[in-house]
Amino acid sequence: MLRKRTAGQETAENVTSEPSKNAARHSDERAASESRSQTSCWSTVSLIGKILLLIIFVPPFLNYTSLKREGELLSPKGGQYIDIGLGQSIHMICKGQGQPVVILDAPTGVSSDIWFHVQESVSEMTKVCTYDRVGLGFSRRAMQNETTGMEKVWKMSTTGRMVDDLHRLIKAAGIATPFILVGSELGSLNGRFYSHIHDTQVSDLVLIDPIPEEVFEEGQWQQYWYTQLVPSLQLKQLSAATGLSRLLIILGVMRPAMQGENISEDLLQRQKYLLSNPAHQSSAVDEHFFLNESASQVREISIFKPLSSKTSVSVIRGDTFDEELPAHLNQVVAKLQKKCLEQSYPNADHIHIRGVDRRMIYKNPSLVSKHLLELVSRRQSKRQSQ
Ligand SMILES: *[C@@H]1O[C@H](CO)[C@@H](O)[C@H](O)[C@H]1NC(C)=O
Ligand SMILES: *[C@@H]1O[C@H](CO)[C@@H](O)[C@H](O)[C@H]1NC(C)=O
Ligand SMILES: *[C@@H]1O[C@H](CO)[C@@H](O)[C@H](O)[C@H]1NC(C)=O
Repeated sequence: MLRKRTAGQETAENVTSEPSKNAARHSDERAASESRSQTSCWSTVSLIGKILLLIIFVPPFLNYTSLKREGELLSPKGGQYIDIGLGQSIHMICKGQGQPVVILDAPTGVSSDIWFHVQESVSEMTKVCTYDRVGLGFSRRAMQNETTGMEKVWKMSTTGRMVDDLHRLIKAAGIATPFILVGSELGSLNGRFYSHIHDTQVSDLVLIDPIPEEVFEEGQWQQYWYTQLVPSLQLKQLSAATGLSRLLIILGVMRPAMQGENISEDLLQRQKYLLSNPAHQSSAVDEHFFLNESASQVREISIFKPLSSKTSVSVIRGDTFDEELPAHLNQVVAKLQKKCLEQSYPNADHIHIRGVDRRMIYKNPSLVSKHLLELVSRRQSKRQSQ
C-alpha cells in the first residue's frame, strides 16, 4: 500500500516540473485523490479478503475442534466398542437381559440412536442390541489396512460388506443365537442378506418398510435417487465439512430428525453432533449411493440361497405415504414392495400400522415395539414349552 502511494507522488512531482503551478497543483490533487481512492479501494479489497478467509477457515476449524470435544462428551451411555478383528471396532449398545436377543439394524445413513425408544421398551422383556454401521455414528470408518478384503467381493458401503461386519460383531460380542433380526430400509436389506446366508442364527426376521430390490430398475426412481436425493445429501456433507451445518443448527434452520418431549437432551445434542460431522455424513452419502448395489446383491442372494423355512418373517408397514417423496414414486415403491414380498416371502406375517409412514421407528416407537414384544413373548413361551 505504501509503495503505491509514493509511486503516485513521484508521477505527480514529474508533472509539476514543466507547466503552470496551478495545473500542477490540480494534477497533484487529482493524483493524490486517485491514490487515496486506490488505497481505500485496496484496503476494502483486503478487508473483504480477510473476512472471506475468516468465513472460509474459521467455521470449519471451530467445527472441527468442537466435534473432537463433543465426540468424547456425547458418546452414548452403556455403549461399548467391540473389536471385530483387524483393528476395526464397532460401537454397540445392548440393554436388558434374556433371550431371544433382538438385534436392531438402522435405516439408510442413520446411527443406532434412531432405535432409542424401541430399544428402551423391548429391553424390559429381553436383551436388545443396536450398533452403528462402520463409518456412521460412533463407529469410525475402516482404514485401508483394516479390511478383510470383503469389499473386493462386495464393494464398500454395500449390504454384503455390512453383513460381514455384523457377522463378526455378533461373534465377537458373544450374542446368543438364534436371535431376532430387525431391519428398516437398508437395515432390512442387511437383515435379509444375513438371514439367507446365516440361516441357523436368525429365528425371526422382521422387516420394517423394506426396500423392494427392483425399485432401482425403475427409471423414475433412479432419476429421483441420483439426481435429487444423493446430491442433496452430498450438499449436506459439504455443509457439515465447512461448518455451515453447525451455524444453521445454531440459527435453528437445520433441525435434528428426532425432536419433541420424549427426546432427551443427550439424544438431541448427539443428533446435532452427527449433523455437523462430515465423516458421518460422508458415510451416509455412500450408503445411499450404493443402495442400488445393495439391492442387487440381495436379489441375487434371494435367488441362490432361499430363506430357511425355520426362519419366520414379519413385515411391518405403515399405510401413510412418505411426504418427502413425490406421490407417484410412493406408488411405485408400494407396488414393488408388495410384489417383492409375495415372491420372496409368501408366508410372511404382515402387520399394517395405521397412520404411520417409514419414520415410525422414531415417530411412533410404541406401535413398533408392541409387535416386537409380541414376537419375543411368543418365542419365549415356545421355548418354555419345549
Ligand atoms: C493401520 O494403519 C494405521 C496408521 O496408518 C495404524 O495406526 C494402525 O495400527 C494400522 N492397523 C493395523 C491393523 O495394522
Ligand atoms: C412420550 O412418552 C409417553 C410415555 O412413554 C407417551 O405416553 C407419549 O405418547 C410420548 N409422546 C410422544 C410425542 O411420543
Ligand atoms: C448403481 O448406480 C451407479 C450410478 O448410477 C451405476 O454406475 C451402477 O452400475 C449401478 N449398479 C447397479 C448394480 O445397478
